Order: sequence, then structure tokens, then C-alpha cells
Amino acid sequence: MKKRVLVSGGAGYIGSHVTVELIQAGYDVVVADNLSNCDLTCFEGVKKITGKDDIPFEKIDCCDYASVDRLFSEFRIDAVIHFAAFKAVGESVAEPLKYYRNNLLSLLNILEAAKTHGGCNVLFSSSATVYGETDKLPVTEESPRQPAISPYGNTKQICEDILRDTVKATAAYGNEVMPGIDKPGPVKGTALRYFNPIGAHPSALIGELPRGVPNNLVPYITQTAIGKRECLSIFGNDYPTPDGTCLRDYIDVVDLAKAHVAAVARMLEGRMAEDYEIFNIGTGRPVSVLELVNTFEKVNNLKLNYRFTPRREGDITAIWADPSRAEKELGWKAQRTVEETLAAAWAWEKHLAGKE
Ligand code: UD1
Repeated sequence: MKKRVLVSGGAGYIGSHVTVELIQAGYDVVVADNLSNCDLTCFEGVKKITGKDDIPFEKIDCCDYASVDRLFSEFRIDAVIHFAAFKAVGESVAEPLKYYRNNLLSLLNILEAAKTHGGCNVLFSSSATVYGETDKLPVTEESPRQPAISPYGNTKQICEDILRDTVKATAAYGNEVMPGIDKPGPVKGTALRYFNPIGAHPSALIGELPRGVPNNLVPYITQTAIGKRECLSIFGNDYPTPDGTCLRDYIDVVDLAKAHVAAVARMLEGRMAEDYEIFNIGTGRPVSVLELVNTFEKVNNLKLNYRFTPRREGDITAIWADPSRAEKELGWKAQRTVEETLAAAWAWEKHLAGKE
């Protein structure tokens, strides 16, 4: 029987790319999303890419336990990939309660239902933000977490801990996950710590759809290139880095999606070394903001209007991954070059412009 994966937040940027890869890898998928930060554009794109018109879509809010419980009763769920969360760092500072309520409660509900319906495999969408600022680069999964600088970052840390503790406590229920059985069962957990996801599907049918002014670098770049924004501000060129701009580990969103498939397969096929595992998902390659901008110009053969402005509060100088654990244990490695990724990001922006 085909295994079924529930993708919460599956209509969003990363969720839609993961849904495509899961379907192409032969899984059944149920997408759940409350559409609070996206519309159905990407879900429609997923259907086109996969040629599957009947992917179940449930418009539910994971903060409502009754809805989550109903999903687990209606479908035999073998694994959950939990994306449904708010993710704007600045907004989380202004509205911490909104972030704590939404991000924590949605995971609590998923875990409660997972435990109650015979146990389940739960993959949590975490972030490299948990490492904070460190001199010891690249970071491994053993690198200590630092106190979070934003409520958003704090929700990632707390959610990792909630998952870890739930896995530990439910191990007593026995080893085998029995989805669809209405008695408590074990929860197995994986946290993937993403570095900086960027880019879009090569079909240009799905990609990032920021609402309002983008906070993240690549959507700001593509919107400037298309003329929606006047000028990109590069936040700081006086950092202690080779060109003075910050260093990050930009991971292609399709590569990132493939990492989810590898991690879910490991859980479903009983190949986990521990019941709770953590993996860094990055390229291992530091790229500066300026390098990224220059590569974008070169690969897409255009000139970008940009200027240097003061540093953005809360930004760290540099972070990149040691992705060797994911390579060894998941058999996963980032494949796409920054050039390919930035070409895909630009193709997606042009696709959006053509639709307007
Ligand atoms: C942030 C979050 C991270 C989250 C990620 C993706 C923190 C500290 N960071 O990462 O958790 O996973 O977004 O949503 O919580 N930049 C500019 N001009 C711009 C925008 C960005 O120069 O207009 C620079 C930034 O200073 C930074 C780099 O580009 O050096 C990347 O910024 P961004 O895309 O916002 O990601 P992060 O802040 O690294």
C-alpha cells in the first residue's frame, strides 16, 4: 500500500515544492493549509507539475484540534511534514503572542493527534536560526543552540524541544507506528534545520509568493529586477567578511524538498538510528550577499539597481552548514548550482509578471 504523507502548510512556498517531490517519489499526499499566508496559486501549480488533479486539499487551521483530529480519523496518515507556521522575523518581534500561539499550538495539535491515532512519523520544519551567531563555522548538528534573537527563532527552538520530548515520552507505547489505530502509539521525530531556502521549481509553476514588501533577499532581488521595487538595499558592507557583506548558505528549494523525501523515507522504512534525529539542510558553501547579487545579474544578463545601506538589526555576520550528516545518513546532497537556482527564481518572477 502506498504510504500517505500529510503536509501541513502544504500550499506555501516550501510545502508546495515538497508536495511535488513526494508525489513524484510515489507517495500519496494530503495537503492541509489555512491559506493565511498564501492563496491556491502554488497548489494549482503542484497539480500541473505532477499531472495529478485529485490531490486532497483540506482548508484547515492546525490550531483547531478538532480539525486535525478529523484529518487523522479520515485518512490513514503514515507521516506528517509540519510546515504550518508564521515565519517573519520582524513581525514576530512586534507580535510575539501571535507567533507563540500559532507556531506552538499547531505543532502541539499535530503531535496530540499523531500520538492518539496509533503513533506517527513527524518531520518538523526547523531553521538554522537556532544556532544564532557563532565563530565556529560551519555549524554541525552538535553545535550548541544560542538563545534566540527573535520570538520566531524561539518558536523553532521550543518546537524542536516539544517534538524531542514527545518522542521520548511516547517511546513507551511500543516501537511500531500503527497509523489509523485509535489508541496511543509512538511518535518518531525528525527536525530539518534549513539554512536559506531560495529559488523556484524549474517549471516556473511554483515559487515564493511574499505578501507585501519581501523581507528576504532573493524575492527582493527579483522584485527589483522586474521593476516592482526601485532599489535593493544591501544591509551592511562593513562586516568582517571578504567583501564586507554577510555570508549565508543558500539552499535551492527543490534540493531542500528532496531532503524531505529522503528524511521521510528513512522514517517510514524504519531506518532511523534514533527515534528523534536532527539534520542540517544546506550546501556547505558560504555565499556573500554581494556575490549572490552579482551572480543573479550575470546569469540572467541584467543589471540590478542596488545600494549599500546600514546593517539590519538582528543580522548575524556569517553562517553556513556542515551538511555531512545529511549526506551520510540520508544519502542527500544539494545538487543545484547557485546559478541554476537564481535563474529559476528569475523565471518564476517573470511567470508571475506574465499573469498580472
Ligand atoms: C532569515 C531568518 C531565518 C529564516 C530565513 C528564511 C533569522 C535571524 N533569520 O534569515 O531564520 O529561516 O530568513 O525565511 O531568524 N539582505 C539584504 N537586503 C534585503 C534582504 C536581505 O541585504 O533586502 C541580506 C541580509 O542582511 C542577510 C541576507 O541578505 O545578510 C539574507 O537575508 P534573508 O533572506 O532575510 O535571510 P536571513 O536573515 O539570513
